Formats: sequence, structure tokens, C-alpha cells
Amino acid sequence: MAGVPDIAADAVLVKSEQMPESSEVVRGYDFNEGVNYHKLFSSMSRTGFQATSVGQAITEINRMIDCKFQEIPSDKRTEVNLNPCGRELTNCTIFLSYTSNLISAGTREIIRYLVQHNMVDCIVTSAGGIEEDFIKCLAPTYVGDFALPGKELRLKGINRIGNLLVPNSNYCLFENWLLPILDNMVEEQKEGTKWTPSKVVARLGKEIDNPDSVYYWAYKNNIPVFCPALTDGSLGDMIYFHSYQTPGLVIDIVEDIRLMNSQAVYAVNTGMVILGGGIIKHHTCNANLMRNGADFSVFVNTACEFDGSDAGAKPDEAVSWGKIKLTAKPVKVYGEATVIFPILVGETFASRQKEFQAFYSK
Ligand SMILES: NC(=O)c1ccc[n+]([C@@H]2O[C@H](COP(=O)([O-])OP(=O)(O)OC[C@H]3O[C@@H](n4cnc5c(N)ncnc54)[C@H](O)[C@@H]3O)[C@@H](O)[C@H]2O)c1
Repeated sequence: MAGVPDIAADAVLVKSEQMPESSEVVRGYDFNEGVNYHKLFSSMSRTGFQATSVGQAITEINRMIDCKFQEIPSDKRTEVNLNPCGRELTNCTIFLSYTSNLISAGTREIIRYLVQHNMVDCIVTSAGGIEEDFIKCLAPTYVGDFALPGKELRLKGINRIGNLLVPNSNYCLFENWLLPILDNMVEEQKEGTKWTPSKVVARLGKEIDNPDSVYYWAYKNNIPVFCPALTDGSLGDMIYFHSYQTPGLVIDIVEDIRLMNSQAVYAVNTGMVILGGGIIKHHTCNANLMRNGADFSVFVNTACEFDGSDAGAKPDEAVSWGKIKLTAKPVKVYGEATVIFPILVGETFASRQKEFQAFYSK
């Protein structure tokens, strides 16, 4: 155009290269197609931003499941199952890890479904993620509000977790249920039982005998549950008070780190689905370092990496440590797990329930 300075024309009119043939076109869901959640979620990978990450996470979890259903190659098959927990080996061991608050929330029911149907192979959580499951079998948690004032709640004996409410009386019921079990555990220890966090969780899962419980199903399906900081919650308070009444209980974390790392070391392939950060994320990734990295990984969390936290570390940082394989295609979804995880499960594990049934009935 006449008069336009060359420098400006060159700056604006840089000639486009042809986009690669494989490029996806951005196109969101059209509700003229009706309210079809499967189509809606399938459109996410082409929507952009975190919707695209959700779409990629769906693909990655389905890859884990496809891998699980494949035959174990003969050169990877060992005569003896070296995993000391004795769980039947499949071609992909799936780790599911989650923060405590996800058991306080209704995500618990989604997790219970996965464990009930034997869809995951190893669980990692923090102490609240153990006790809140059992407490919910004794009394409910209620929906409240983030803005409820702490002082008023304290005077009423009600505790707040985000916008959830747990009456103090729930913890009294938990104490009444737990203390006799701890008494028995001390007696059994005198007869030679060596307790570990995973054995304690399995024992409590057996004792609760309630199909609403995640750990009831974990016990029934022989899915090991690891909780290296088992005492950082109400369970720790109970163990503390109980130690005055009946001293002597020992819970060994050394035996559990052997068992935890063995889940990764003796696996054929591994997949990690990690909801939230902190100890649960690192414990899972670190076990996978022992096999030179997980084959499949999905992180869902709200944390960012600028503060150098492990919680916020992206999958690529885990690649640098050998916690995720160099050849893997890991995904991180920035989002709140109570919203994201039901979508992921609906489009993966839950829609493949019949395939899981057929796989386990072989
Ligand atoms: N209900 C409870 O939350 C509860 C109860 C008793 C004890 N505790 C104890 O508090 C300690 C800290 O809890 P924690 O280690 O389970 O994790 P946490 O609650 O401290 O969360 C760790 C990180 O995970 C991410 N995260 C947490 N919730 C998320 C969500 N809903 N969606 C996406 N990302 C999320 C955030 O980045 C967060 O900083 C633990 O020792 C635990 O046992 C918690």
C-alpha cells in the first residue's frame, strides 16, 4: 500500500508457513446436537486451554487401560510374582493418589467405585484420606459454605474443610470405633505382628465391613494403600491418646517403603493418576523413579511451579528426575479435582466397566 513504511508492512505481513497436516482445528461443542455429555467431553481436546488438557488426560488414562488389558510379554513374565503384596500382576499397574480433602468431598464415591471394581492397583493418600472414609461410615459430612465464620463454628463444635462441615461428634464416634481395634493391634503385636501403615489401613478396611468404604474394597480386592504420614490427622490424635492408655504400638514405615517401591519395581508398565500435590504426589512419583519412570502419567492439581514446590512441578520436572519415562506423553490438568476427576473417570474407567469385568473373568 502506497505510503506504508516498509518496516511496518514487513512486520505485519510475515508470510505464513503451511500448518502441518495433523493440526487440529479449534472447534467447541455445538448444543444444537443436544445435551450429549460424551460428545461434549470428546470435544474438549479441540476446545483449547484446560479443556484440551482434560481431553489429553482422557486419552492418556485410556492408554493406561489399553496397556493393562494387553497380554504380559513372555520375556516380562516371571515365574514368581515378586510383588510382596501378592496382587495379580497385569501389563500395567495403575497408581491412584489423592489428597485427604478428596475423601472429605464426594470424590470419595468416585474413588470407591474404582477400587470396588478393581480398576486401580495401588493407592497413595494422606492421613485424612484414610480416616475421613471410615468416619463417613459412622456419621455424615455436610455441605456448608467457605464463608462460615470459624469462631461461630468453633463454639458450635463444628469443623470446616473448605465448604464442607464435620461435627466434632463424628470424631467421638471414630474414637469409640478405633480404640478397641488399636487395643487388639497392640495384643497382636505382642504375638509377633509387625504393623505398617498399609497393614493398618487393610485392617481398618476389614473391620469397617461396609461397602460404602474405599478401604473396605481395597481390603477385599487386595489393593495396597500407602500412607507414609499416617499420624498427621485424627488417626494420629487417636494413636497419641491411646499410647497413654495402652503404650507400645509400633507402626513401621520401612517395611512399607519396600512394599510401595516394589509396586513400581516389579510392574511391567506403570501409570500414575495423581489428584492434588504434596506427599501423595511425590511418594508416587518417587516409587516410579525406582523403575526409571512411569510409562503413563496424569496430574490434576491447582498448584503452579513458580515457587519451586513439588506440588506445582509439571510432569517435565519429574522426567528430569527419572520419575516419568523419557518416552512418555504425560499430561497436567490445572484444575480442581472434584470437577475434573468425575469427567475423567466417566470417559475412561466407568465407560469401560464391561471390559474390566471381561478382563478379570478370564
Ligand atoms: N480433610 C483434610 O483435608 C485433612 C484431614 C485431616 C488431616 N489432613 C492432613 O493435612 C495434611 C495436608 O493434606 P494433603 O497432604 O492431603 O494435601 P493438601 O490439602 O495440603 O494439598 C496439597 C496440594 O494439593 C493440591 N490440591 C489440594 N486439593 C486439591 C483439589 N481439590 N484439586 C486440585 N488440587 C488440589 C494443592 O496444590 C495443594 O497445595 C496431610 O498430612 C493430611 O493428612 C487433611
